[in-house]
Formats: sequence, structure tokens, C-alpha cells
Amino acid sequence: MFLSNDTVFKLKEKYGTPLYVYSESILRQRCREMKNLLPNKKFRVNYSAKANTNLEILKIIREEGLDVDAMSPGEIYIEQLAGFDSSQIFYISNNVSAEEMRFAIDRNILVSVDSLSQLEMYGQINPGGKVAVRFNPGKGAGHHEKVITAGKKTKFGIQKELIPQVKAIAEKYNLTLAGINQHIGSLFLDWRDYIDGVCSFLEIAKEFPNLSFLDLGGGFGVPYKPGESRLDLERLGKELDIVLTKFLGEYPKKDIIFKIEPGRYIVAECGVLLGSVNSVKKSFDTTYIGTDIGFNVLARPVMYDSYHEMEIVKKSAGNNGTNKDARIKATIVGNICESGDILARDREIQTAEVGDMLIVYTAGAYGYSMSSNYNCRLRPAEVLIDLNGEDRLIRKRDTLESLVQNFPA
Ligand code: LLP
Repeated sequence: MFLSNDTVFKLKEKYGTPLYVYSESILRQRCREMKNLLPNKKFRVNYSAKANTNLEILKIIREEGLDVDAMSPGEIYIEQLAGFDSSQIFYISNNVSAEEMRFAIDRNILVSVDSLSQLEMYGQINPGGKVAVRFNPGKGAGHHEKVITAGKKTKFGIQKELIPQVKAIAEKYNLTLAGINQHIGSLFLDWRDYIDGVCSFLEIAKEFPNLSFLDLGGGFGVPYKPGESRLDLERLGKELDIVLTKFLGEYPKKDIIFKIEPGRYIVAECGVLLGSVNSVKKSFDTTYIGTDIGFNVLARPVMYDSYHEMEIVKKSAGNNGTNKDARIKATIVGNICESGDILARDREIQTAEVGDMLIVYTAGAYGYSMSSNYNCRLRPAEVLIDLNGEDRLIRKRDTLESLVQNFPA
């Protein structure tokens, strides 16, 4: 943990809670690990910005030499603000309107389409242009069915049986197929899942002998539970290198670039979420620790039953007669008016009192980016701990005024 207990309370005093706090040093470390995945290949890392689109985080990732992918004009807009050049942005579109496609084309940003009808749309908007196509390699992986993005049961990508149609549409509009991409799903911790997906994908790639790049997708997991082993990146890198070297031996275009799209791996572990304990009660058989971290602040536990490690930080350092290390089983909840607003059910955790704080770990990915104003709650502030250990506000908390700013006067 990059924050001492003292700092946790100081940050609360200075910025309030709930508060996302990020470590610049861990963020840079994770960027470097990913960049080193394939040292012997023409290789680029596209950070998948949906995991965390804070402007300052994006700037650091750019400084580390990563490119980015985008899922919407909004992400493109903010990535350009962060200083990414058009050539560094890859728009992986999904069911977009012609206007959204044009938004990227007008900015010289490469678009990936993921259906035949969207390829037609692209051809009509930008005949003679360069495009990428997302394929579904047929088998996915991930921590929850909602985040498995390949295989027979997902909306993403084009199946390989439709390759002749892809070629026909490309020819009809004189399109150059610059690259193909895939993404099998989010959060695998076994390198074999990724290699399996890549192998099926490379078979598809062989059908297109003149590609400039192959984008193998993201999904690299991080451990959320104590004791869970890390993804073996070194092994994954080695196995990937073997598979790609073999592919290059058979593929005509030897200068093809390989890309990956990690989101979570880059930002998950550099972020923690700080909350306040506002109530503790026993109701029937359950002890509830009531905090200000509702599912508007962190949606993952409610949306995917995701586990986040948590810890209570005692305000009174145990000098009020309670044993600060005593543990209980409690259900940790937020302040949203829904009974499903549960961060952790029946979790073994330290005893808590009003005024204590709650730390939620591994909250840097899909935390703030999935937060909302539900119940007219204010989205939290974000703070960066820089390389000198100084804290800096990198996003203000919403205000009551910001809740109403979009109502016409
Ligand atoms: N590329 C594409 C096309 C994607 O759809 C995604 C994530 C990524 C890359 C990055 O995946 P990552 O490396 O972060 O696993 N909200 C969920 C995760 C949804 C991921 C959606 N797509 C969660 O909180 O677990």
C-alpha cells in the first residue's frame, strides 16, 4: 500500500471522501512492464482508456510511450487533449452512427469496425480509405460473463466464416485493410487463455497477406484477492514470442506490427478508493458497516460480484478501549437507496466505528470511469500521489451545480 494510515486521514481532511487516490510510481511501473512484454518484436501497447480516462493519468501513460485505443468520440476528444497524436489513437468502434465514424475519420484516426454493415457504412463515408476489422476468434475468457467478448454468445467482432464478405466489401469501396483486431475478454490470470485466443486469431490473419498490424487485444488480469497469484507476464511474453515468430515465418509482410490493448493491467493497482464509515449497526443477524462508497462510486461489486480487498483504518488507533485488530464478519454497504448497494457481503474485516475510514484496493480500473450521479450523488474527486510523494488534485468532486448544469435555462 502506498499510503500510510496517517496520510489516509490527511487526504480525507484535505479533499473529503469518497476519494480515488493514484500512485504515479505504480502507474509508470505497470506501463513499463507491458512495454517490455515483447522486446524482440515490432510491438506497440495501446492503453485501453475506458479503464481510467483521467486526463492526468492519460498524460503520464503518453509520457511512458504508450498509444491508446478509444471507444467513443468522447474518449478520442480527451485523448487528444492529453496530447496523443491521431496516429497514436485507434478507435475500436461498436455499433456507431455515421457521425461518430466521421468524427474519427475527420481527425485521421484509424477506425476498426465490427460488423459487415458497419464496414459498408465506413466504405460509404470514406471510400478509398484505410480501415481495420475486428474479428471474433470464436472463444473468449474473462472474470464474468458480462465481460467475455469473444465466442458464440457475444455481440462483438466478425466471425471468420465471413472473411469472403469482408474482402468483397473492402474491394467494393477500394478500402485498404490496415489491420485486424480482437479482444477475447477482460481479466484472465492464466496466460494460456490469451495464447489460445492469439493462435485462432493468427489463422484469421493469414487470410489477409498485406496487413500493417495485428492487434491481439487486452484482458490482462491483476490479482484482486490476497494470495491470488499474478499473471506470469514473463511466461506470457515468451510464449507469445514463440507463436508470433512462427507466424512471421509464414507471413509475407515481415514488418507487420503487433499491438496489445491492456486497460486494467495499467491502472488497476495504482488506485485505491478511500471512504468514510458513517454508521455501524447490527440488524437481525448481520453487522452492517455503512460507508459513503455507494455503487455510484464503485460499480464493480454490484455489477459483476467483483471482489475488492478492503481494510478499515481506525480513527482512534485503538486507544478507546477497542482492540483495533479484532475482526468480525460484516456486510459493507454504501449510501445508495437500494438494498443491492453492497460492496462486500459477510466479509471478515476489522471492527469498525463511525469516523473510521475504509480503503478499497485495486480500484484504479473501471472505478471512476464507471461512476455515476445516481441518487443525485456527487461523483468523487481524484488525487495523484506524484513521484515526490506529493498529493495533487487531478479531478474535482462534482458539485450540486454540476448536477443541474445540463438543464436548459
Ligand atoms: N480492448 C477492447 C476492445 C475492450 O473491449 C476492452 C475492455 C479492453 C481492450 C481492455 O480490457 P482490459 O485489459 O481492461 O481487461 N468494466 C469491467 C471490464 C470491462 C472491459 C470491457 N472491455 C470490469 O470492471 O471488470
